[in-house]
Amino acid sequence: MPKVWIEKLLEEPELYLLRIDDDKIRYFEATWDIPEGITYNAYVMKTDGNVILFDTWKRSYADEFLKALSSVVDPKDITHIVVHHTEPDHSGALPVVLEANGYRAKIIGTTFAKRLLNSFYGIMENVHAIKDGEELKIGSRTLKFITLPWLHWPDTMITYVVEDKIILGCDVGGGYSIPPAIDDSNEEVVERYLPYVTKYIVTVIGHYRKHIIQNIEKIKKLGIIDDVKIVLPGHGLIWRRNPKRIFEHYVKVGAGVPKKGKVLVIYDSMYGFVERSILIAVDELKKHGFNPIIYSFTDKDAPAVSDILGEVPDSEALILGASTYEANIHPRIRYTLYEILDKANYEKPVLILGTFGWAGVAGREIETLIKKSMFKHVSTIEVNGRTTPEDEMRIREGVRKLISLLSEP
Ligand code: FEO
Repeated sequence: MPKVWIEKLLEEPELYLLRIDDDKIRYFEATWDIPEGITYNAYVMKTDGNVILFDTWKRSYADEFLKALSSVVDPKDITHIVVHHTEPDHSGALPVVLEANGYRAKIIGTTFAKRLLNSFYGIMENVHAIKDGEELKIGSRTLKFITLPWLHWPDTMITYVVEDKIILGCDVGGGYSIPPAIDDSNEEVVERYLPYVTKYIVTVIGHYRKHIIQNIEKIKKLGIIDDVKIVLPGHGLIWRRNPKRIFEHYVKVGAGVPKKGKVLVIYDSMYGFVERSILIAVDELKKHGFNPIIYSFTDKDAPAVSDILGEVPDSEALILGASTYEANIHPRIRYTLYEILDKANYEKPVLILGTFGWAGVAGREIETLIKKSMFKHVSTIEVNGRTTPEDEMRIREGVRKLISLLSEP
């Protein structure tokens, strides 16, 4: 059974974390491999006789959620339910909670969320659609609701608790994996966690990348990020040692800030031909002090595309190696490339190494796709079968051209 955490975070106002560690999930959104799992975090605040529930868990954990919730409050006493985002990993248990609550609580969300609550669950009564920036005084606390569309859906908002400088972010500030702690107090835990935040941002929100920077800029301008004391996301670690750090990380991923020297190398190799070209390219990269991070699809390996996506934002450049397969790009590279172009489309240089038996198509097709994207096409080098000494010279030259566009590692 997944582990459940029920933690009191504050005495005044009384604030609780309800977290479940979903170690059963394999594919988030039925797509992204996450053997590392994910947590769903909900929060309960008590203020002067009012009880506010912020989000819930996935429907498959509705019973566990009701049990955890009942350990800190009688569900009948919940006066307000804030729905930051209606994706069912956060709203799935809502119908069960409402039933236990006797449908007394006022539900608060965006206009878009109101529409989705109806379409997902038939919830229409007692739903208050907030306006961007609207403040609601509940007990002794002022909740300010700020819409952040496309982080992750158009329905998304966050709550800022004005008196305590707390941000409840739901997807905003979240990440994959099951951290062994609830907050960022241990630096080792944070260091291990942040790559999973990157992977989460790219796979879940990457398609809406420009909205990451715009929306974080929006709350920055409101002065909220500079003042924030605690960030309470719907997934992963709570941020209270260094609450600004999670927003800084989101902006870095959104902007694709590179790590010096990191070059992402992705290739397929059915019979070792592509691999020979790639090994030459890797050797040339290393000779110049670069650090190639390699993902290969072979008859022994098939890395998770979600992991590859997570490597793109902080890479300086990409090298893509592909064989021609049925007059097209090898299927694994084709899928990987489509996902990169959709979820991790950054202004980074790309070198293409194609290999073919009787007709070279993969390199040309990749080049066409790259030229239509934000990536910068550097060169396409096609090799017919085995890599000859002349091919080796062309590959080394292509790598040198690629790294001439990068700063010294
Ligand atoms: Fe965690 Fe967009 O749901």
